[in-house]
Amino acid sequence: MTREQQKFSSKLGFILAAAGSAVGIGNLVGFPVNAAKNGGGAFLFVYAFFVLFICLPVMIAEMSIGRKANQEPVGTYKTLSEGSSFWGGAGFLSVITPFMIAVFYTVITVWVLSYLVLIVSGQLSYLVTPSSFNEIINSPYIFIALIALVLMVGFILIAGVKNGIEKVAKRLMPALFIMLLALVIFILMQDNAWSGVKYFIVPDFTKLNSGVISHALSQAFFSLSLGMGIFITYGSYISRKDNIVHSAKLVALTDTGVAFIAGLMILPAIFSFNPNINTDELSSSSVALIFTFLPKIFLALSTTIGYFLASLIAAVFFLLVFFAALTSLVSILEVPVAFIAKKQNDSRKKALLIILCIGGALSVITTTSFGMLDYFTDFIVYNAQSKSFFDLIYDVFYDTILPLNGLLLCLFVSYRWRQKGRNGLSDEISQGNTNYIGSFTEKYISFSLSTFIPLILLSIFSYTVAQKFWGYSFFS
Ligand code: PHE
Repeated sequence: MTREQQKFSSKLGFILAAAGSAVGIGNLVGFPVNAAKNGGGAFLFVYAFFVLFICLPVMIAEMSIGRKANQEPVGTYKTLSEGSSFWGGAGFLSVITPFMIAVFYTVITVWVLSYLVLIVSGQLSYLVTPSSFNEIINSPYIFIALIALVLMVGFILIAGVKNGIEKVAKRLMPALFIMLLALVIFILMQDNAWSGVKYFIVPDFTKLNSGVISHALSQAFFSLSLGMGIFITYGSYISRKDNIVHSAKLVALTDTGVAFIAGLMILPAIFSFNPNINTDELSSSSVALIFTFLPKIFLALSTTIGYFLASLIAAVFFLLVFFAALTSLVSILEVPVAFIAKKQNDSRKKALLIILCIGGALSVITTTSFGMLDYFTDFIVYNAQSKSFFDLIYDVFYDTILPLNGLLLCLFVSYRWRQKGRNGLSDEISQGNTNYIGSFTEKYISFSLSTFIPLILLSIFSYTVAQKFWGYSFFS
């Protein structure tokens, strides 16, 4: 199976696979709760603005360099910079970041799978007991779920881009849409549901401050799977006849649409459970929400619809989250797999084996960092706080390096990538998009990627480093 054969079979296949990558836990839970806590419609407005004016140009740039070089991130940066090792290093960051993010994402996906299995076996009522979460994530059974997940991911990735990633996305994404809509309709029929909708949509501009705004941008960046080399790698699997701007718009629209619709499920559910809830009290962590708060809501439904139906609704919800997480996981792992495959004479099998073994081992370590092993639970101290192995990966790769990757990409496409004396980006985007050169879109993309987008990403990066690792806050 050679790398040259790895292509999506159709534009729809690519859009679904890319949307499968983007739609994940961030959309289904992270976004709705952030919106509710940070001004409802006002947050939605800021978020949509960022998606359109900041994230879309970055996504388009990622797809363009990948398609031009027809390689994974390291090869892409190296080829387009004519062999620069500095830019090769930037490419390497775009390979290691998704790999490490995959490690913590795997752990959370394993929890989702375990909850799903427990609900299906009739144990919804156990999930609401206060100690259940800790018991579940520290039980030896969690490793069985981990092995099952690694096998599933392995089966999908070994089949390749067209027969694995694309096929799975074509089945799971429509299923995901249907389950999401069914849940929304069901939840909206519950008492008090509409006060949740109001809370989600009615804007409260007084809540917007610099913290909320930078949070909205990070949320949008993560949700669209940017800075992880995914769209560089996927870009190498698409045809030069495809219109990249159009494809990127569809992916962003799907991702944002799913996040918005998920808000119509999560917030009404929270409000119908407790009409007087103060959303400030909701934990901003998706993890706390999925695993401790939502099971309570599902169980509460059993007083009106019975235990069986309540478990069914809970199972559909966890299946939905699981599908979303699985398609995301496959896409992040494709990046290091493509990178190693190239090093291994285009053998995907070998590459996959290497990635799944190292990734699996790191996931085992991460799984033990929630109390199972003290060494990994109190792994390191920085900023006067004891951090677990999980926290370390999260802080370094997700919070810090993600915006750095975005920044490097902007600098690369704006100031380094030249072709016949001209900027290579516009040239590449115009393939499959004949009206691009000279259009307003071209002017906006070139201007934004060379000016304010890198500046914003630089400030997020410096702010995070200063605050996370030295406890220094610019705003206080
Ligand atoms: N974008 C996904 C989400 O919203 C997360 C993701 C992370 C996807 C890493 C791919 C890679 O949850």
